[in-house]
Amino acid sequence: MKRLAIFASGNGTNFQAIVDAMKKGELQAEVALVVCDRPGAKVVERAEKEQIPSFVFSPKDYATKAEFEEKILHQLQEKQIDLIALAGYMRLIGPTLLHAYEGKIVNIHPSLLPAFPGKDAIGQAYRAGVKVTGVTIHYVDEGMDTGPIIAQKALEIADGESLESIEERIHQIEHAFYPKVLQQLLQQM
Ligand code: GAR
Repeated sequence: MKRLAIFASGNGTNFQAIVDAMKKGELQAEVALVVCDRPGAKVVERAEKEQIPSFVFSPKDYATKAEFEEKILHQLQEKQIDLIALAGYMRLIGPTLLHAYEGKIVNIHPSLLPAFPGKDAIGQAYRAGVKVTGVTIHYVDEGMDTGPIIAQKALEIADGESLESIEERIHQIEHAFYPKVLQQLLQQM
C-alpha cells in the first residue's frame, strides 16, 4: 500500500474527501501523515478524529524555509511517504522538499490554470466574469501554481450565478476529482 502525506493550511475538506475515498476503497493508499503550517487549523482537528498523525508547525518559529522543510522531510522519511498531495497548503514548496520528492508532489487548484493562480482563485474568476472555470491538478515546482498539468475539470458558470454557488460547485468537483486522480497516479508508481 502506497503512503500519502497531505499538506494543508485550513479547513481540510479535500483532506477529508481523500480519507473518505480511502475508507470506501476507492483510493488504495494510506494517508499516513498530515502536515499543517497553521496551528489551530480545522484540518488538524480532522486528522485527530481520523487518528492520522500530524506534523503542525509555525513558520515564524524558524529562521528559514529550509529549516522547517528539513523537519518536514524528517517526518516524511520516518513515515516512508511515497507521494505528497497539497490540499489547500498556502505556501510555496522550497528546494529541500522539491529535491527530495522530485515529481512526487502534486497540488489541487480551484481554477483552470494557467488562469487565476495564487490566492482566491474562485473569486478572481468570478470577478473576471469568465463563463468557464474549473479545477486543476498539477505537479508542484518552485513557482506558484505553475507545475506541469496532470488533469483538469471544467465548470460552466451560469448567468448571474453567485460566488457562493460557484465555490460550492468547485469544491464538489474537487472532492470527487482529487481522490480519483491520486488513485491513477499511485497506480502508475
Ligand atoms: C481548495 O479549494 C484548494 O483547491 C485551494 O484551497 C482550498 C482548500 O480547501 N488551493 C489553492 O488555492 C492552492 N493555490 P480545503 O482546506 O477545504 O481542502
